Amino acid sequence: MSNQSHKPHVFLNMAMSLDGKISTRDGTGPRFTGSADKVRLREIRTRADAILVGAGTIFADDPTFTEDGIYKDERVKRGLSPQPIKVVVSGTGSVPESALMFQPNGAPALVFTTKRIPANRLKILDSVADDVHIVGDEAVDFPQIVEILARTYGVKNLLIEGGGQVNFAMFREHLIDEIYLTLSPRIIGGRDVPTPVGGAGFNFIDLIELELLDHHVVGSEIFLHYRVCS
Ligand SMILES: NC(=O)c1ccc[n+]([C@@H]2O[C@H](COP(=O)([O-])OP(=O)(O)OC[C@H]3O[C@@H](n4cnc5c(N)ncnc54)[C@H](OP(=O)(O)O)[C@@H]3O)[C@@H](O)[C@H]2O)c1
Repeated sequence: MSNQSHKPHVFLNMAMSLDGKISTRDGTGPRFTGSADKVRLREIRTRADAILVGAGTIFADDPTFTEDGIYKDERVKRGLSPQPIKVVVSGTGSVPESALMFQPNGAPALVFTTKRIPANRLKILDSVADDVHIVGDEAVDFPQIVEILARTYGVKNLLIEGGGQVNFAMFREHLIDEIYLTLSPRIIGGRDVPTPVGGAGFNFIDLIELELLDHHVVGSEIFLHYRVCS
C-alpha cells in the first residue's frame, strides 16, 4: 500500500450487441461475444491495478478477476501485482458473500458501500472482504472511491467493467478517461435488457463527448477505442 493521491487513469471496457445490449434476455452477460473479445478483455486487464464492478455484475456474472498464464506474466512484466485488486460497489451491501471475488487469490477484495447497509450485512461482508469502506449516506461517492483506491491502495490504472448503473455514475462524475467497446454482430433486443450506460441518462447539454482513437475488425466483430473529451 502507498500514499499516492493523484487521480488514477480510468478506463472502461464493455461488450455490446449491434442493438446496444450488454446481456441477453436470460441474463448470460457478455458471453455473446467471440473469442477475440475474450482475448482483448484479458489484455486490457493486464494494464489494471484494480478492476471495479457493481453488485449487479457480481450477481449476473460472478467474475473471479483471477489472471493466469501469459496474462499474469504480462502484468508482472509491466510491474503490476500478479492479480488485480477486486472492487465491488454495493450501496445496500446486497453483494453475496459467496461471490467468487471473495475467494482468496493473493489480491485484496474491497467493498464500497453506504450507511444504508444493514448491520448484519456489514458484519458478513467484513468477514469475507479485505476491507469494507463506507463512502456515502444514500449513494456511494464515486470520486471518493477513486481517491481511496489511489491513496490507500496505490491504484494508478483503474479498469471499470460495468454494469450500466456503475458506468453511468462514473460518467456523471467525469471520472472516465478512455473507453474500449466491442461491437458484437448479434441482435439481442428486449426493452429491459441492460445497455452499457444505464442510470437516469443525460440531458442534451450534458452529453459525454468521445474521440475515436483506434478501431479494428476481427471477422464481423468491431473493436473500438475512444478517449473521453472533457
Ligand atoms: N457486456 C458487458 O461487457 C458487461 C459487463 C459487465 C456487466 N454486464 C451486465 O450488466 C448487467 C449488470 O448491470 P446493472 O446496471 O444491472 O448493475 P451494476 O452496475 O453492475 O450494479 C448495480 C449495483 O451496484 C450498486 N451501485 C451502483 N451505483 C451505485 C451508487 N451510486 N450508490 C450505491 N450503490 C450503487 C448497487 O448495489 P446494491 O444493490 O447492493 O446497493 C446497484 O444495485 C448484468 O446483466 C451483467 O451481465 C455486461
